[in-house]
Amino acid sequence: MIAIGCDHAAVALKEELKAHLKGQGFEVEDVGIHGEGKADYPAVALKVTRAISNGSCELGVLLCGTGVGMSIAANKVRGIRAACCSEPYSAILSRLHNDCNVLCMGARVLGPELAKMILDAWLGTEFEGGRHAARVDMIRRIER
Ligand code: RB5
Repeated sequence: MIAIGCDHAAVALKEELKAHLKGQGFEVEDVGIHGEGKADYPAVALKVTRAISNGSCELGVLLCGTGVGMSIAANKVRGIRAACCSEPYSAILSRLHNDCNVLCMGARVLGPELAKMILDAWLGTEFEGGRHAARVDMIRRIER
């Protein structure tokens, strides 16, 4: 299950990515917003990261104007490794090397087709483990 959420800057992109994910057979938990005025991105980031922390979702997607605010907020939550990506290379490496569990993107930065490409690349890549596992463990130790 993938959790997805957005603020007011990214409602249309969220809908497009949600449909894209469902079209590929993914189950999606949409935490909003659904177009109801303005939203504070930290509140949405908290909802998506909670879904991961409580085990109901394995991965999350957070969308705002730039993706930056969402990634800053998400990374405050223990166990969350969020990456703000604007191209597929960083998205792939965020999975391979960083075991990233939340992808953040900016609706004011990316067109929907590029966002779909980044999302597909991210979801299609597994954590490599090995020497990278020790580094991710170091991040966990910083959190403690
Ligand atoms: C909202 O205007 C904007 O600040 C937000 O979507 C995001 O870009 C923050 O990082």
